[in-house]
Amino acid sequence: MDRIRIVGGRPLVGSIPISGAKNATLPLMIASLLTDEVLVLENVPRLADVASLQRILGNHGVDVMVGGKRPGDSEYEGQTLHISAKRIVDTTAPYELVAKMRASFWVIAPLVARMGVARVSLPGGCAIGTRPVDLLVMAMQNLGAEIEIDRGYVVARAPKGLKGGRIEFPKVTVGGTHTALMAATLADGVTEIENAACEPEITDLADCLNKMGAKITGAGTKHIVVTGVPRLSGARHRVLPDRIETGTYAMAVAMAGGDVLLQGARAELLQAALDVIAGAGAEISVTNAGVRIARNGAGLAPVRVTTEPFPGFPTDLQAQLMALMTRAGGTSHITETIFENRFMHVQELARLGAQIRLEGETATIDGVPQLKGAPVMATDLRASVSLVIAALAAEGETMVNRVYHLDRGFERLEGKLQACGAEIERLSGF
Ligand code: UD1
Repeated sequence: MDRIRIVGGRPLVGSIPISGAKNATLPLMIASLLTDEVLVLENVPRLADVASLQRILGNHGVDVMVGGKRPGDSEYEGQTLHISAKRIVDTTAPYELVAKMRASFWVIAPLVARMGVARVSLPGGCAIGTRPVDLLVMAMQNLGAEIEIDRGYVVARAPKGLKGGRIEFPKVTVGGTHTALMAATLADGVTEIENAACEPEITDLADCLNKMGAKITGAGTKHIVVTGVPRLSGARHRVLPDRIETGTYAMAVAMAGGDVLLQGARAELLQAALDVIAGAGAEISVTNAGVRIARNGAGLAPVRVTTEPFPGFPTDLQAQLMALMTRAGGTSHITETIFENRFMHVQELARLGAQIRLEGETATIDGVPQLKGAPVMATDLRASVSLVIAALAAEGETMVNRVYHLDRGFERLEGKLQACGAEIERLSGF
């Protein structure tokens, strides 16, 4: 198993290319199940989660062809996937595959919409609290699917096809909105989704589905209307830049100091987070090429932040912000409202000398003048990268274990940071 070794204390200077968004890529790949024609996705990041989903789709009979390099491509150019679900040969998504990645549960929607039946294992994925699927199931039931839970599997049936209906989510759910959107595209009649998630990844999926011939209006707002069509066609779509990767590197620069251009980043995808980072004392400027972030010498100011659905501060940047605030000049408060157990990074940050108290859903962070390197590990993706951020400013060496979590969501993290001057390396085979 690989480890990452970091020696803190060097500022970051240069530029970091931002990859395509993992959280958009996964639903877009799953949407390929809705059509027997080829869906071409550009700017797909090279991530373990993308490879896992390729295997899961392969099990349903989907062929994925990876486009070759083009002249002038940089080493960080995203991949182009040609995905063909011409014939679906299996409508079961087995436990061994779904348990590795929660998002793969979403295959249930296109499978039942197109094939009239789907049998999908209840999911696993990151260990961040209970993550139920009751609202995803409710969405499909409201479109006429019959649902049964059978030995750990959710079985959805709609032998005569799905019917348009009204889906009102009692809380904002990204997975629920993705599922509802995909299922409704092929339903007979009009579907109204109320209290829909407004995350940019939802808008990206809806844009791609519309290119495939779907009739979706209102994506990006709380009220989405889908008029079902009998079939969808192929399309070509470019995945939007990863707002979480952008925010993560912005916090890394705020932490280590320096001046970095986040190439291809789009500020409007993470305005709330950029405002918080600016409030903490970093300088942020938006250019045609991306988002530039700098902090030269000035100390960090403490913040008070609550995670919220988009356009609020994202739960996927909570751990990284906490790492940053460990060195602020004062006391910060971070409240996590999306997931009840997303604080596993606290104990590990404490190993580096952070002072954090947890009370219910709020963490209180007393900034310290210096962190000290130590061996650490984390049990989820965003928690792992928060340890990297802390390590960049810690005195001495930090060894981050269980790097496979990072590989699920960050493309060549150590290469991107190294190129900006960080002392960071991957040690293989431990
Ligand atoms: C969530 C985040 C998303 C993030 C992802 C990975 C929000 C709104 N969603 O998306 O930004 O990228 O985690 O960290 O910030 N819920 C139910 N029943 C369900 C589905 C969800 O009760 O059937 C609850 C969840 O427990 C959670 C909330 O709804 O408290 C939001 O969950 P949801 O948005 O569906 O989770 P993800 O799609 O994983």
